[in-house]
Amino acid sequence: MTESILAITGPTSGIGRGAVKALTNSFDRMLLLCRNLDKGADLKNDLLQLNPDLNVDIIECDLSVLASVRQAADTIKNRFDHIDCLINNAGMVSTSKEKSVDGYELMMATNYIGPFLLTHELLPLVMNSERKQIVVVSSDAYKFAPMKRPFFKPKRFSSIAGYGRSKLGTLYLAQELHEFYSHKGLKTTAVHPGMVSTNIGKNNVSQSLGTFVFRLLDPFFKTLDEGAQSVVSAVEDPDKYAGFYSDEGRIAAVKQYGSDFKMRREFIDATLKELNLKAL
Ligand SMILES: NC(=O)c1ccc[n+]([C@@H]2O[C@H](COP(=O)([O-])OP(=O)(O)OC[C@H]3O[C@@H](n4cnc5c(N)ncnc54)[C@H](OP(=O)(O)O)[C@@H]3O)[C@@H](O)[C@H]2O)c1
Repeated sequence: MTESILAITGPTSGIGRGAVKALTNSFDRMLLLCRNLDKGADLKNDLLQLNPDLNVDIIECDLSVLASVRQAADTIKNRFDHIDCLINNAGMVSTSKEKSVDGYELMMATNYIGPFLLTHELLPLVMNSERKQIVVVSSDAYKFAPMKRPFFKPKRFSSIAGYGRSKLGTLYLAQELHEFYSHKGLKTTAVHPGMVSTNIGKNNVSQSLGTFVFRLLDPFFKTLDEGAQSVVSAVEDPDKYAGFYSDEGRIAAVKQYGSDFKMRREFIDATLKELNLKAL
């Protein structure tokens, strides 16, 4: 029987960590794409305690750096010929204007451009698997702001609008995948996991302020396991969720900027041009 393989970005913390722990018995092998190899090694130990028969590979990948994404994809392509399920989970929030090494606004680079390139590079492996599944961890933050030109190097910085636009980008990516590959068997789901108490945003503000704000909000947040559940459900039930937006496990209509298909076309085409690609 063919080995079933899960590849996931951002498994070392928060929702991604919760998801891989819940999925240890669902795949034969996990490819953990991590920017921090020590955290990856710790996670591997934890996963092997949960399932000693699981094969776990740690692949170095900093999604904010295009060269790192290409190298991670090459490493995977050199070793594996299929990926049953790709989870694009990694994400971050910046509270000040920061540029990626490639010159893009950092949230757009990390949350959208890097994952877009990774998906493009790994799509042939996903299409070569039995399961053919991609789960995109998006966010209801897609409603925060309309997409706006210049897409990747905005003149003015806003943490909220910038994060929202990067997550709107991930939603457009999921819609694009569904439109062009579902008839070939690809099952794509975009997931909003809810408000979850994770590390997101905490690393980028002062430690004391971050702890204070998050402690105030904590009673309203889901736990990691609850937050991971909508991702796990989408992975485990592709026939229910394929082609849909899962809002905390409920299939929901995509509204506002998320259903602006003309803008989606412009944005995806601009991404392809920026990355020098012909098609997704
Ligand atoms: N938490 C929420 O309420 C919420 C709500 C809606 C959507 N989301 C989405 O859920 C996803 C997971 O976020 P989370 O809340 O679980 O946050 P988290 O605890 O901060 O985890 C984020 C993960 O992404 C990784 N990551 C960050 N920047 C990266 C980079 N440049 N290259 C590679 N990996 C990188 C982190 O790696 P390190 O461990 O090395 O930092 C970590 O594994 C994100 O896409 C986020 O937008 C979260």
